[in-house]
Amino acid sequence: MRRVVAGLLLGLAACASDAPVATMGPAPMPPAWAKDQPDEMRGDLPVNYTQAKVGVAVAPELLVSASGGKIASPDAWTRERRPEIETLLVENQYGVAPGTGGREASIEHGYSERGIPALNGLALRTQSTVTVASELGEQVIDVLLYTPAKATGPSPIVLMVNFSPNVVMVDDTGIRETDAWVNGQTVPGRQARAIAKQDLKPYLERGYGVALVYYGQIEPDFGTGASDGLRKVFKPANTYERAPNEAGAIATWAEGLSLVREQLAANDLVDGKRIALYGVSRLGKTALWAGATDPDFAAVITVCSGEGGAALSRRTYGETIAHVAASFPYWFAPRWNELATNPAASPVDAHMTLAMIAPRPLLVISGETDAWADPYGEFLAARLATPVWRLFGKQGVDAAPELDTVTGGELSYLVHTGGHGPGPADTPAILDFLDRYMAADSR
Ligand code: GCU
Repeated sequence: MRRVVAGLLLGLAACASDAPVATMGPAPMPPAWAKDQPDEMRGDLPVNYTQAKVGVAVAPELLVSASGGKIASPDAWTRERRPEIETLLVENQYGVAPGTGGREASIEHGYSERGIPALNGLALRTQSTVTVASELGEQVIDVLLYTPAKATGPSPIVLMVNFSPNVVMVDDTGIRETDAWVNGQTVPGRQARAIAKQDLKPYLERGYGVALVYYGQIEPDFGTGASDGLRKVFKPANTYERAPNEAGAIATWAEGLSLVREQLAANDLVDGKRIALYGVSRLGKTALWAGATDPDFAAVITVCSGEGGAALSRRTYGETIAHVAASFPYWFAPRWNELATNPAASPVDAHMTLAMIAPRPLLVISGETDAWADPYGEFLAARLATPVWRLFGKQGVDAAPELDTVTGGELSYLVHTGGHGPGPADTPAILDFLDRYMAADSR
């Protein structure tokens, strides 16, 4: 299991406020798709939807080390700057992952079926579990995998982390039903709504496998969810009080996804070196952090991830840290919530999370009318992170693309027609992106 060393993190956190900062230079004119809309109130908090009121963004510098040295080579990035940035992000935003330096847990992989013909002969279905256990309890995560039936060898796959249990996410009567969390209670999975359901056929036809996981099985998504999730394996349940740098749900979901990736990589039907991760919205935030912290994810696709995801927190546009801290204080480390009143003072921002994924392929997708997630702020974070991909001789983004037109390059950006959630332009863009960097050998 991948682990970050807690002791090291504490030492470096002290440098947080000394982190070098730089303006992004003149921001490009917002593209035509970045349309203003009337400002509003969400609870007690105002929401700005006017680009002209955002002001100048000053972002922590990526290619200058904490000691002021210029980072000019891939090696200097990997050895020096990337670990500094990881520490800043862990300490100030996501928190130290559960289990780090703490109680040992055992991890078991169980299979209820392997490679059974499914989806009218298009796929082979494998159903399995990852069980994480200690003397405090256990957490069982179901993994549903479809690999292309026509594959002649291990397939590249996309791991999709979903809001709904597997049983409602695919039209297939053979899927094991697990419980779902609805309003803080468990109900039989079939009673759950299928949120952001995907058509798997285009992936399978193009030679990619798809794995599905329900985030509620890693940890339920509410304030006291830690008592019913992965965190309870590492800390006694119901006594959960978080240190300022302790993980919330996002880092916990990310940790669970990493465990799922390890399990998938151990399967002969899967090419363990070509596992991409896909998530939407809060699960887009999660996919970014999982990809950032687990270098064995080969690629990341994040859709409408917004605040705490790909959108720059320094831009007061749409959702801000204050809104997240008010509604979902359990998602990030407590220290991040405290930045709500002054995001400009944060030692971290979204471009740093994106840059952690470099030089691996990353596709950032926004929704045109998803103003709450600040699509233009997502684009600007990708633009700010681009120099890190360039350091490796890879391509990033420069000018904002037209609607529904994905930029090419290892760091790619798409803004789709429509709002929050998957859009019609996504799947073709994702498949082209995968073909460029994870090409299936079985087409
Ligand atoms: C809310 C939340 C967002 C989040 C979204 C989602 O809108 O404010 O930060 O991304 O839910 O997960 O759908």
